[in-house]
Amino acid sequence: MLSAFWNWFVIILTVLSILGCWWLLNWTKGISNREGDDVGTTGHVWDEDLEELNNPLPRWWLYLFYLTIAFSILYLAMFPGLGNVKGFLGWTQLSQYEAEVAVSQVAKQNVYAVFQDMTPEQLMQNEEALGIGRRLFANNCAMCHGSDARGAVGFPNLTDSEWQWGPGYDAIMTALKQGRQANMPPLAAALGDEGLPQVVAYVQQLSGQSVDAELAAAGQSRFQTVCMACHGMDGTGNPMLGAPNLTNDIWLYGGDAETITQTIMTGRNGNMPSHADILDPEQRRMVAAYVLSLSN
Ligand code: HEC
Ligand code: HEC
Repeated sequence: MLSAFWNWFVIILTVLSILGCWWLLNWTKGISNREGDDVGTTGHVWDEDLEELNNPLPRWWLYLFYLTIAFSILYLAMFPGLGNVKGFLGWTQLSQYEAEVAVSQVAKQNVYAVFQDMTPEQLMQNEEALGIGRRLFANNCAMCHGSDARGAVGFPNLTDSEWQWGPGYDAIMTALKQGRQANMPPLAAALGDEGLPQVVAYVQQLSGQSVDAELAAAGQSRFQTVCMACHGMDGTGNPMLGAPNLTNDIWLYGGDAETITQTIMTGRNGNMPSHADILDPEQRRMVAAYVLSLSN
């Protein structure tokens, strides 16, 4: 909405412009437009005898000008343009936008209607569904999980057998709807200067790396007091908390002594954002089936 001043400023300026055009047309038309009149001259002379005549505009051209004036009046009556006047059609940018959104919603529903009653297994067999899932993945997930879904440091590989938050379609759907917030606090203080390298060695041993056996053995009991609550007695993790399995060769941050030490010292807070507001439930089903198809 324009303020009262600008409202009248625009209205007066627009009306004056249109009236001005009208007047100008009439004035030029009248200069030398009477039937039977000699065509006058403008009084301009070049090269002694080259005069500029004052012929009227061709009629068809003149009428075109009148037509544009009529059009502008009609347009301003129908559509917004004259200050705050709304126009009798009631058109607004917003209503046009909303109408277009409604049309695309219907189109989208038609696309997804085909898949509505399919199970995740059926979606995974369906080329068209996987194609939609692949495109949704490329647009919404690839920037974090990589275009091949193999992840990067801190961003899990979605094509392997390790699922920090549990395997399967439902777990992926939960990740998409609610997001996933992992929370491992810094724990170096609980282990002390002596305990830290011992636990690091033990974690490396869990994953099958060769380490100082004595150091690792000393780490085991510390692991079972400080780490077990989340990573489990045997270190295989807990999907309820997103605590990863430490007994395989799959790492989110890294399995070398330095990175494990870092993990324990600073803690880790991996955060997968919720996509509930970004993707419709139908879209989440497509992308979940696609992700699941990658690891199968
Ligand atoms: C802003 C970065 C980001 C985006 C975008 C993102 N993710 Fe994630 N995602 C993460 C992070 C980080 C984690 C690990 C969270 C943690 O540490 O537990 C994760 C975890 C997951 C998990 C759980 C993996 C497991 O091992 O349990 C799934 C499934 C997943 N993402 C799927 C997706 C899908 C599908 C999309 C696209 C719709 C997506 N993510 C978009 C960052 C992202
Ligand atoms: C409060 C629960 C909790 C406790 C206690 C805990 N962790 Fe964790 N830990 C987690 C979670 C959750 C993650 C995943 C972090 C993420 O995804 O960002 C994790 C991740 C890790 C990782 C990274 C694994 C990878 O793939 O890179 C290592 C290593 C680790 N923890 C070792 C330990 C050790 C050793 C202890 C004991 C000193 C310990 N954790 C105690 C919850 C815990």
